[in-house]
Amino acid sequence: MCGIVAIVRSTTPEENGSESLPEVLISCLNKLEYRGYDSAGIALGRVEEGGASLVDSDTKRPTIERFRAAVSTRSLEELKKLLEPIAHTTHAPTGNYNRGIGHTRWATHGRPSERNAHPHQDCSGSIAVVHNGIIENWRELADELTATGHHLESETDSELIAHLIEEETSDVDLLEATRRATKRISGSFAIAIMDANSPNSLVVVRRLSPLVMGTGKGICMTASDIPALLGLADTYYVLEDDEIAEISPDSIRVFDLNGDTRELHPILVSWDISAAQKSGYDDFMGKELNEQPTAIKDTLLGRVATNGSLTMDETRIDDDALRDVDKVFVVGCGSSFHSGLIAKYALEHWARIPTEIDISSEFRYRDPILNSSSLVVGVSQSGETMDTLRAISLAKSSKTKVISISNVVDSSITRHTGGVIYTRAGPEVGVAATKTFSTQIIALQMLALYLAQLKGLLYPDEIKTILEQMRTLPDLMQIALDRSEKVLTVAEEIASKRDLFYIGRNTGYPVALEGALKMKEIAYLRAEAYPAGELKHGPIALIEPGTVVIAVATRGRLWEKMHANISEVKSRGATVVGIINDEDDQTASLVDYALFVPRTPPLLDAVVDIIPLQLLAYHMAKLKGFNVDRPRNLAKTVTVE
Ligand code: F6R
Repeated sequence: MCGIVAIVRSTTPEENGSESLPEVLISCLNKLEYRGYDSAGIALGRVEEGGASLVDSDTKRPTIERFRAAVSTRSLEELKKLLEPIAHTTHAPTGNYNRGIGHTRWATHGRPSERNAHPHQDCSGSIAVVHNGIIENWRELADELTATGHHLESETDSELIAHLIEEETSDVDLLEATRRATKRISGSFAIAIMDANSPNSLVVVRRLSPLVMGTGKGICMTASDIPALLGLADTYYVLEDDEIAEISPDSIRVFDLNGDTRELHPILVSWDISAAQKSGYDDFMGKELNEQPTAIKDTLLGRVATNGSLTMDETRIDDDALRDVDKVFVVGCGSSFHSGLIAKYALEHWARIPTEIDISSEFRYRDPILNSSSLVVGVSQSGETMDTLRAISLAKSSKTKVISISNVVDSSITRHTGGVIYTRAGPEVGVAATKTFSTQIIALQMLALYLAQLKGLLYPDEIKTILEQMRTLPDLMQIALDRSEKVLTVAEEIASKRDLFYIGRNTGYPVALEGALKMKEIAYLRAEAYPAGELKHGPIALIEPGTVVIAVATRGRLWEKMHANISEVKSRGATVVGIINDEDDQTASLVDYALFVPRTPPLLDAVVDIIPLQLLAYHMAKLKGFNVDRPRNLAKTVTVE
């Protein structure tokens, strides 16, 4: 998840203290480090005494100084080195730095490199922008801009913004040019813009991506998150969606995108830096769990054309070849394997393609029957899991079509496969997968829909409807997340138990598997998941009075058959926790504790139903005093066999 920061401050020494502007920007970027990054950059502007922009001695034009670095070591050292010659420039004869924008980049569009690092500039070099978000219509915009003679230097969607603003600046100021340019963009964005010709202000604008603002004595700043502003600002504000602001050291002017004035309302910030980096949550897992609705929105962005059809040219396999696919293999480990198990139902139902889901370490040793009509999809949030990489190599050596689904741009798996569908969940720090898991499900289901579209198995309006239904999921997930307190009360009731059984049918079975995995990983409890229909073939022997059974019993899932399974375990004395749809009193009457979730359209229920199970594991672990972010014996990235 990229982080942006923008500062404009007075050049009066008494107001600035001893830190130079480059130093201040670096320290702000440091405070956004927790968001994860693979490159970073800063652009600075100087003014002469009297407040005019400093003019370059060669070009005789006002200038912007830009410093960018790919940061392989995941620290800002490379960028700091570049800034060394000017790092301590507070009051130089060559003019004072009075404004700057900075960026930490977590690649979503184009590999991590200096060329793709922000800030990006327009053709003239007068405009510099930093951007967090995803520009959905970047393809159309890139074509339009290149047709009108713009030279695009990077592979990013963000660079387009600088050129769009450049197109508008001929007769209006930066604020108006940005307002007009923003109207051409769809997607999510928080953008800060610096113009060499506007020496005393910066412009910021946002839609869907976060942007907070702060003011202090002689300084005004804005950033992706509060930590960057702590210690510098004394009053804080949030810029709302589709608001644009011009900031200068002693004023902020805010407008909507029609140019009408808006008011800013101060917000109370009482967090210290550590709480602020976790957005006020106690831990990263809590934060990431709650980021799932936003993460799903980002996964869906930019993949739906204006006519409602899907565009997934990122698979890098041509349409005819994809139409020929007669068998899909999804390979992954742990939660990534579970996301495949869930997607199997969509791949077989929508795209009517026989689908096998394999644990990578089994697939690579089991001599699978692969040929040029097979499609192997490697799923790995980290993109570095050794067994999944080896499974992919095996598939490649069999001349099979191969793509990957990953959360990390330019990770090993993405370099081994031609096409990649990025999940765009943002960095996940907690070891237990949460938002990367739910976004993998959506990415795989979009692939299933795309195959159905290519094969002509669903009518365009059916695809449009399913995509619209997918877009309702973030709100439904939010409702489930808002019920965390209720899950906590159930966790308190069962906190003393050591053995838990999870049951489900259809997609409810892999949801049960994932819920049990979370419970094992972070609460260290024996949690076993079974297809509910299998109980009577053995596991039911383990049910005795007081055994906890967690039943995924939402409506779509062979609901009445689940009733029978719940009765089977109840009659043997089990305590049953049910994941149940709102208003389903019938199922609720069968269980001891009901955890309600909103009802979802068919096949799309997993990302909602998993939430109470993630929360249950989370609360159980916390009640036991365990570190949910760093469970024992586990690593976030498993690079060994
Ligand atoms: C579970 C979890 C692990 C990973 C597995 C695969 O919470 O995090 O089971 O899902 O190690 O990792 P990736 O997806 O990085 O290949």
